[in-house]
Amino acid sequence: MKIYVPMDSAAKALGADDVAAAIIAEAASRGLEIELIRNGTRGMIWLEPLVEIDRGAGRVGYGPVLPADVPALLDGTLKGLGRVEQIPFFARQTRLTFARCGVTDPLNLDDYQAHGGLAGLRRAAGLSSTEIVEEVTQSGLRGRGGAGFPTGIKWNTVRQAEADQKYIVCNADEGDSGTFADRVIMEGDPFCLIEGMAIAGLGVGATKGYIYLRSEYPDAIRVMQEAVRIARANGVLGADVLGAGRAFDMEIRVGAGAYVCGEETSLLNSLEGKRGVVRAKPPLPALQGFLGKPTVVNNVISLATVPVILEKGAQHYADFGLGRSRGTIPVQIAGNVKHGGLFETAFGMPLGELVLDIAGGTASGRPVKAVQVGGPLGAYMPLERFDTPFGYEEFDGAGGLIGHAGMVVFDDSADMLQMARFAMEFCAVESCGKCTPCRIGAVRGVETIDRIAAGDPGAIPLLTDLCETMTDGSLCALGGFTPYPVMSALTHFPEDFATAKEAAE
Ligand SMILES: Cc1cc2nc3c(=O)[nH]c(=O)nc-3n(C[C@H](O)[C@H](O)[C@H](O)COP(=O)(O)O)c2cc1C
Ligand code: SF4
Repeated sequence: MKIYVPMDSAAKALGADDVAAAIIAEAASRGLEIELIRNGTRGMIWLEPLVEIDRGAGRVGYGPVLPADVPALLDGTLKGLGRVEQIPFFARQTRLTFARCGVTDPLNLDDYQAHGGLAGLRRAAGLSSTEIVEEVTQSGLRGRGGAGFPTGIKWNTVRQAEADQKYIVCNADEGDSGTFADRVIMEGDPFCLIEGMAIAGLGVGATKGYIYLRSEYPDAIRVMQEAVRIARANGVLGADVLGAGRAFDMEIRVGAGAYVCGEETSLLNSLEGKRGVVRAKPPLPALQGFLGKPTVVNNVISLATVPVILEKGAQHYADFGLGRSRGTIPVQIAGNVKHGGLFETAFGMPLGELVLDIAGGTASGRPVKAVQVGGPLGAYMPLERFDTPFGYEEFDGAGGLIGHAGMVVFDDSADMLQMARFAMEFCAVESCGKCTPCRIGAVRGVETIDRIAAGDPGAIPLLTDLCETMTDGSLCALGGFTPYPVMSALTHFPEDFATAKEAAE
């Protein structure tokens, strides 16, 4: 009998380690022979710890399981959830990037290969660098870190650059509120990221890679370090990648977790041991990045999606999606929701379906008021925009952004003036300080919103004006996009700003 208990840190936070220990102890006391596998999460966080048992006829789920449930679990009398793949939240997904996550043992390279792992890298090893980059370009993959920039174009710039050394830098800073896809894949399928980085290395001619991982993710750091060690020991990394005669190796670097260090140039400074301050562009990191050398900086999900593209072909990936948003996106559902977790779907699903149907509405049972999509710099989407399909251009047209595809749901008790204030405060705290509209503008923004709250009607046009200045004059998206949450709160929920004024009167 195989028993799966996730080792994902969200599952652990909900008691997975205690459940695993209880299973081992109970099985030992009964003389029962079991194989306990610590898998990644399936992404259904509200069911964690989600234990799966395979008695020979597929994996049946139980969750959330408490240590006290373990005797009944082993007796077979605990009420189950049925086959895990048939749980509606899971069954409705299109799992390409996360196909193995929660299925395999994250640190077992044989298990990885048995589930399609390394097929992409094997294929890439037989292709020229131009062919690899062309495949990624044809897939339509766009950066999942926030900006949605076409990955193939970025790679091609680095591929064509002349240099004695090039680098692949993986952005695993994952600072956006409500996001956890990077962490889930690093803890649940680390070889997939390693494989994606190795393919990127072969594609652009880089022999060295770094994962910039935040210190707040100790489990991901441990799993990635171990996975790199195993990959190196098995010839996936090193002087002769899979015997193809080309070199690629990598290491994990731990960042201290400043939000701005997720911005690619600030990240490069931090990686070089400098203060995490944003660099002006140009030069682009693709031409002068880490240590001044041509560098691909890609998000974890962008890179972890490359293996399936090489394995199944660009067209297979491009066949999913909507408009210029090709393939799938791991939507991360958080905040006040019934069913929080990771939902990988082809682009195109309307926002309302994700919030009200997939996520099941609010956990509080109160009506949904707003959803912030795309992290702390994303707009608050009101119910009137719930028909917006998940797509880069479609969200842009609706005054929002997808960013890293985190969604934080709020019920009708949320005070949107306070949310706008928080956005400005966040920007003030996290600003790297390099440019004035952000460094000083965010502080003035908090003060101006306080004036609105105190009933000063003249402060509303001032806030609008300030937001325009921040949008137009900031060097990076921290200052430049903070107006998204602020102005969307003001535009869609004017009553919260008026109520504050009336209350003051
Ligand atoms: C303030 C700020 C924070 C950012 N944080 C992250 C982050 O945590 N992870 C990430 O992948 N990209 C982040 N980005 C985007 C990166 O600058 C960059 O666009 C991305 O790493 C490129 O990779 P991609 O093309 O694969 O998305 C951030 C940008 C800004 C302005
Ligand atoms: S916008 Fe803010 S974070 Fe970005 S460079 Fe300017 S001061 Fe730094």
